Amino acid sequence: MPVIEPFRIKVVEPIQMTTRRQREEVLEEAGKNLFSVPAESIIIDLLTDSGTGAMSARQWAAMMVGDESYAGGASFRRFEAAVKDIFGFERVIPTHQGRAAERILASTLCQPGNVVPNNTHFDTTRANIEATGAVAVDLPCSESVDLQEPAPFKGNMDLEGLVKSLDENVGNVPFVMVTVTNNGGGGQPVSMENIRRVSRICRERGIPFYLDACRFAENSFFIKQREDAYRSLSLIDIAREMFGYADGCTMSAKKDGMANIGGFLCTNDREVARQEEELLILTEGFPTYGGLAGRDLEAIAVGLYEALDPDYQTYRHASTRYLGDKLAAGGVPIIQPPGGHAIYIDAAAMLPHLPRDQFPGQALALELFLHGGIRSVETGSVMFGSRDAESGKEIPARNELLRLAIPRRVYTQSQIDYVVEVVLEIFAQRHRIRGVRIVEQPQRLRHFSAVFDFVEREAVAINEGVLAAP
Ligand code: F0G
Repeated sequence: MPVIEPFRIKVVEPIQMTTRRQREEVLEEAGKNLFSVPAESIIIDLLTDSGTGAMSARQWAAMMVGDESYAGGASFRRFEAAVKDIFGFERVIPTHQGRAAERILASTLCQPGNVVPNNTHFDTTRANIEATGAVAVDLPCSESVDLQEPAPFKGNMDLEGLVKSLDENVGNVPFVMVTVTNNGGGGQPVSMENIRRVSRICRERGIPFYLDACRFAENSFFIKQREDAYRSLSLIDIAREMFGYADGCTMSAKKDGMANIGGFLCTNDREVARQEEELLILTEGFPTYGGLAGRDLEAIAVGLYEALDPDYQTYRHASTRYLGDKLAAGGVPIIQPPGGHAIYIDAAAMLPHLPRDQFPGQALALELFLHGGIRSVETGSVMFGSRDAESGKEIPARNELLRLAIPRRVYTQSQIDYVVEVVLEIFAQRHRIRGVRIVEQPQRLRHFSAVFDFVEREAVAINEGVLAAP
């Protein structure tokens, strides 16, 4: 039986159609940076799956009973009960989004010179750890290196690398973290076995183990599908087992909390929680709302369970895979297999005529917008690379990727068919895509505000010799 959307649409939001001409003007004004484009001029927005989902009627209804008391609100107790039921940690600290939880965790546990291993740090996690003077180390598994070769759990942590890192840094690792699913590594899942083994390695050494739980429900579904021992377990039981191996977690409820804002931080350590709540009060708010409105806490309390609904996850994974399979069938190189929340195009493989300092991922992102009004995000050298201050040379990232992130319960299959068609039309003309250069950039997090321009055709032509034109 085909998998269909397990919901009906009750509220609609119009999409404004635009012409290429209009999009050229908009892009010019935005300094060729898609973060600066007004959202109304986008036809399909695949910039992120974070906070962009559609809430259910039950979530909207729950928001109406939000208790906005400053302290001791009933909404906090319902939120806390839901988080404890699924995540099982003793202390639950609400925050306005995931990075606030990361900042509080890092400020509480990290000292300058500490080392924090992760399968792959998300950029805000890395930034918050590094802001304390600690070093964030990525330890992705070896299967993740070959982007196009499928493997069931390419999000796993490299266990040998972890043991080595812990042995080299005895007494210097405040916590170990595993990100589920591995967003920086293509939205790939982490197996229960890997989580269990990381947990054992940490517990033998008395090191706290945290999960970055943003997409915990998608990861639970992958475990159910791909790990034999979990086939007959419910998603909630898989999630509970997964969290049972950890000592705490950070969470962005903008992903598998199915909410438009919110997050939280959990721990089993009462003393750590006490210190974290002190920091919370400083910048986020009182521990029974943590920077959120009571109604936001209600939306999350309902959303966490909706993310674990098997019909929803079946649809979520089928629809992401649908996009990935259609692109791959048309010859587009993508990270295989498709991840849970996004499809990642290997822009370096698709545009071999562009050298890496002409940012193939950004070049493709701009073309997707110009050709079809689709917003995506480059997750390559613009986002993760840097420019050497002395030589002015670009230091590239590990990969040149373009992420098509899929908001939850937002786009229909025909809209995704439109995305497929636009990408395949561009693919057929890919040798024409121009490289880009950075005209202006800030010192940090340059992808948000850098100004770009296309590289002149003559400069591109130098590299066209190596291209087998289609
Ligand atoms: N961890 C992971 C794995 C994430 O993907 C994100 C956000 C965060 C932490 C931070 O959460 O945004 O609520 O502060 N990822 C978004 C994205 C922004 O587009 O992938 P936040």
